[in-house]
Order: sequence, then structure tokens, then C-alpha cells
Amino acid sequence: MEGSGSEAGETSINWVRKYGGIVHYRHLLGEHRILVADPQGLRTILVKEDEKFLRDIQLGIGSRLNIVLLTNDGAEHSYQRKLVNPHFTQMSLNASFDIFLEQAQDLKNSVEDQLKGVTEKLLPIQNMVTDCVKEFICRYAFGEFPKMEDSSQNIVTALMSALSLSPIVSFTQTIPILGWLPTKSNRALAKNIKFANDFVKKLMEDKRAKLMTDQGKEEMKKDLVGRLFLEADSSKPLTEDQVAGLISTIIFAGFQTTSTAITWCLHILSEKPDIQEKIAQEVAEVMVHDGCWTWSNLDKLVYLDAVFKESQRLIPIVSSVLKKAQRGAKINGYDIPEGTVVVAHLGAAMRNPHVWEDPDEFKPERFLNTTMDKYMYQFLPFGTGAHKCLGHQLAKVESRLILALLIQNFIFERPPGYKVRKASQLLITPNPKVELIVKRRN
Ligand code: HEM
Repeated sequence: MEGSGSEAGETSINWVRKYGGIVHYRHLLGEHRILVADPQGLRTILVKEDEKFLRDIQLGIGSRLNIVLLTNDGAEHSYQRKLVNPHFTQMSLNASFDIFLEQAQDLKNSVEDQLKGVTEKLLPIQNMVTDCVKEFICRYAFGEFPKMEDSSQNIVTALMSALSLSPIVSFTQTIPILGWLPTKSNRALAKNIKFANDFVKKLMEDKRAKLMTDQGKEEMKKDLVGRLFLEADSSKPLTEDQVAGLISTIIFAGFQTTSTAITWCLHILSEKPDIQEKIAQEVAEVMVHDGCWTWSNLDKLVYLDAVFKESQRLIPIVSSVLKKAQRGAKINGYDIPEGTVVVAHLGAAMRNPHVWEDPDEFKPERFLNTTMDKYMYQFLPFGTGAHKCLGHQLAKVESRLILALLIQNFIFERPPGYKVRKASQLLITPNPKVELIVKRRN
């Protein structure tokens, strides 16, 4: 059975090493599953014959949270994706670059504040990055946050708590009735889901109220949900219900993903001072030349980009995607019985020794002076095909800005006795949370 390995994802990686890129195994209660980590097989499942491998909702809570884009498939999915895609392109995000830069600078300033009067300090860097990313996405997507009656609750902690209950969610996937028993964790989950849904409702009410005045309409152009609302109001057919679904999706998919990926990158770099130094030099060169931050000079940080890619390859926060085989499904010539759960294992694919040289080594150079075509269906931190991450450009700008500003100004080191494991909570998250010693660079 999968999951008995010491760290999240390691069992699957070891299977692929031992048995090759396609592995048949038994899951809970002996359920047959097929794990796929081979490029050809992944291409079949995620792109070429994706209509024969439909989503298997691993988030048992999906149906209770209206996270539509993360849970639907086929015509409904592609219709919504088409309407939403234009808001997530580089060009569209570039219009909000100042917001992103301001947030990253705030993070840098708060680290600086913590270092006032001391040469180094142990800082809760994961929490600090998470707060920064939360602000990033909130400002870009929602503008103002709605004021909730229950001010003790906060949307991010509510959703994070829902996520932290995911092992139970995974069981309820196999035995759905377990999800409805009046246990303490199910009650907590229900409370958090209700809060998240009420939050979305309140945000929608606030936006609707703004539609009443010309000034309100002008303000709405400044954030994503406002713009979608204006489109729903005009000729473009994204209904209010679909906008509500998108808000939940962005909160769910956008908050913890990027901050966790950035945290893992800092975790890896905290034992590689030479690589931090190289990044700092690259940033300094670009800044001396260009003088200010823009999207296009972020594109010049090719070494930083390679480092972030390599950290995503070694620790992919979304390590697998679950699909259910439809009639006639075949992978690499094998017939897959209808209804079989097929696990597209992005994490194992990125550590497959048949594809990657020195798969366990941290070697950012592998991504330099090469085209990404070389890694098609092998490097998949954001997935691929029709369901490829909607927010990958957003994640890219956030991670580059945050890492560039932090490493340009500070050095990160591990405290004595530092030990962090990879835990699986839908995402691969650090356990315990990452805290690092931070020093000023100059
Ligand atoms: C480093 C950060 C991130 C990583 C590694 C990541 C990874 C992924 C992966 C692997 C998928 C594919 C899932 C599948 O095939 O079913 C996905 C889908 C998705 N992601 Fe991300 N993601 C990140 C950040 C974000 C952000 C910031 C957003 C904000 C909008 C976002 C929104 C979504 C959505 C809406 C989907 C579903 C797309 C669809 O099915 O059409 N993600 N993400």
C-alpha cells in the first residue's frame, strides 16, 4: 500500500525506481490503483486522451466548497477556463506588478525590522512568507477584504484547517459515510467550510453593492473579482455563481501553494550559502543595469529561475493528481479497467532515474542553457494539459520577487538541531513550520 514510506511521496518515488514508470498497487481496502510517472503515460492521461481520464475528486470537501475549477471537467471546465484565462496571463498580471512589488518590499522591510539592533535572528520565515503571499493574492484578486461578523475567524486559517484535516478527507473518499459522522474533526471541518462559504457570500454582497454607483464601478476595475463582476454584468456570460466558485477556488488553490513552494526553496538554500551568494550577485547585476524592478528584469534572473525550478522538482508541493479511467482507457498499451483510479505522479516523474540524471541531487544548472521542450512531460510542478495550473504565472512573479528581494538582502541559515520533514496534507508541506536564522547580507 502507498503511504507507508518515511516521508511524503518517497514510497512512490522508490516504486518507480524499482518497477519503472507504471506501477499497479493496492490502496485502502485493497482498491486497485495505477501509478504513472513515465512521460509517455503522463502525456496520454493529462493531454492526449484526457477525456478518458476524468478527475477523481481527491478533495472530499470539493463539493462542499464550490471550488469549481479544481473539481470540474469536460465542456463546463473548458468554458470557464476560457473566460478566466485572460485574467491570468503575464500581460494581465503585469498591470498589477506594483501591488506585487509593494508586498514583496513589505516582507523585506519586516525582516529588516526584526533585525534592528541584532546581527542575526531566528525568524518564522514560513509564516512571514505566507502572510505576504496572502496579501499578494487578496489585493490582486479581491481588493478589500469583507468584514465578517465572526472576527475571531479568518478565511485563510479556516481553509488551512480544512486542509490539515485531509488525511481524514482521504479516508472519506474511500468510505464517504465517515465524512458525515458527528466526530470532532468532522464538526471542525463543517465549521470551517461554512465560514469559507459565508466569506465568499459576503464578498459577493460587497461587490454587488459597489455596482450601484459609478465610483464603485470604477473601484471594481482594480481587482480581479471586481472585473469579473463587471463582465458578468455586461455581455460576458460568467454568472455570479461562477464568480463565487472562482473566488473559493483562488483562496483554496492560491494561498498556501506559492508560499509553501517559496518556503521549501528557502529551506533547501539554507544549507547552500554558495548558491544564495550566486543569486545575490545575479540580482545585483540586473539591478545595477536596470535600476528598478519590472517584470522584464525578473525574466533576466535566469539562475534564480533555475534554482526555483530545481527546488520544485525535488519538492513538488502538488505531488500527484488523481483521475478515474473511463471506458476504453489505455496507458502505454495496457488496458485500464473502467473506474480504476489512476495516479498521475508528478513528483515521482520529476525524480525518475530513467529520465533525470542524478535525480536526487540539487543541480539548478540542469535548467540553464536549455529549452524547456527537453523536459516536456517530465518537469511538471504545475501539471500540464487542460488542467495546467491557472495561477502558474502569478506563482512565478510572486516567487521570483520574494526570493530575489530576500536573498539580495539577507542570508538564511539553519538553526542547530534543525529538522523538517515532508508531510502530506494535500500539499507537501514542511513539518514543523520552517524557521531559519536570518542575517543581513552586507
Ligand atoms: C507554486 C505554486 C503552485 C503550484 C506548484 C501549483 C500547482 C498546480 C498543479 C500541479 C495543478 C494541476 C492540477 C490538476 O491537474 O488537476 C494546479 C491547478 C490549479 N491551480 Fe495551481 N499551483 C500553484 C499556484 C497557484 C495559484 C497562485 C493559483 C491562483 C489562482 C492557482 C490556481 C490553480 C487552479 C484554479 C487550478 C485548476 C486548474 C484547472 O483545472 O483548470 N495555483 N496547480
